[in-house]
Amino acid sequence: MKIDILTLFPQMFTGFLNESIIKRAIAQKIVTVNLIDFRKFSHLNNSQVDDTPYGGGGGMVLMPGPIVEAIESVKTKDSLVILLTPQGKTYTQKQALELKNYKHLILVCGHYEGFDERIRQFVDLEISIGDYILTGGEIPAMVLTDSITRLLDGTIKKESYQNDSFTDNLLDYPTYTKPQNFRGLTVPDVLLSGDHAKIKAWRQAKQLENTQAKRKDLLK
Ligand SMILES: C[S@@+](CC[C@H](N)C(=O)[O-])C[C@H]1O[C@@H](n2cnc3c(N)ncnc32)[C@H](O)[C@@H]1O
Repeated sequence: MKIDILTLFPQMFTGFLNESIIKRAIAQKIVTVNLIDFRKFSHLNNSQVDDTPYGGGGGMVLMPGPIVEAIESVKTKDSLVILLTPQGKTYTQKQALELKNYKHLILVCGHYEGFDERIRQFVDLEISIGDYILTGGEIPAMVLTDSITRLLDGTIKKESYQNDSFTDNLLDYPTYTKPQNFRGLTVPDVLLSGDHAKIKAWRQAKQLENTQAKRKDLLK
């Protein structure tokens, strides 16, 4: 998969792309992530990309020209253009599972007060990562890149994510590791039994119990 991220702040991605599972997925060519500074598409003095809002009001608004030209510079018939915006549909694991099937994602990061409304005409999808306001679309772009990359074949083992929370509308089961006794808190006996059928049944029951206790809404 190829992910092109259109941003005014490519440096924000340095740590994110150079650590852990994402770094490995890039090295193994499972995913290619390109950072495109859309300031380069400005035709104005000082590479200006924003201006004051028509009608007045606070903050600066991103102009449509540089962003649309940046989109057009990388877009192909295989691309899905996603605008990160708090006004989009709230992102879910289900959507991550759908998006992992695309060959090319273009993620557009807004900043400042937001972007010129006309940019909406040039994107396929609008995604929000939750009902709160961030400074820019860079963290949402990282959220999408991370959650999708870990689902791509070869990044991590399938069994590592197939029971993850939100798969089949359930939360994950509880997990334990060494030591067997931590300050008097012990590991459930069933997990030490070596009986795989029993362990599977216990985990399924715990998934349901966990979901009922913490996220009843998922079971609707
Ligand atoms: C300060 S926000 C602008 C918010 C805009 N004035 C509004 O209320 O809809 C700047 C940019 O950050 C990004 N952003 C902020 N919160 C977000 C969220 N919850 N999900 C996705 N993107 C977000 C968007 O790209 C947005 O254009």
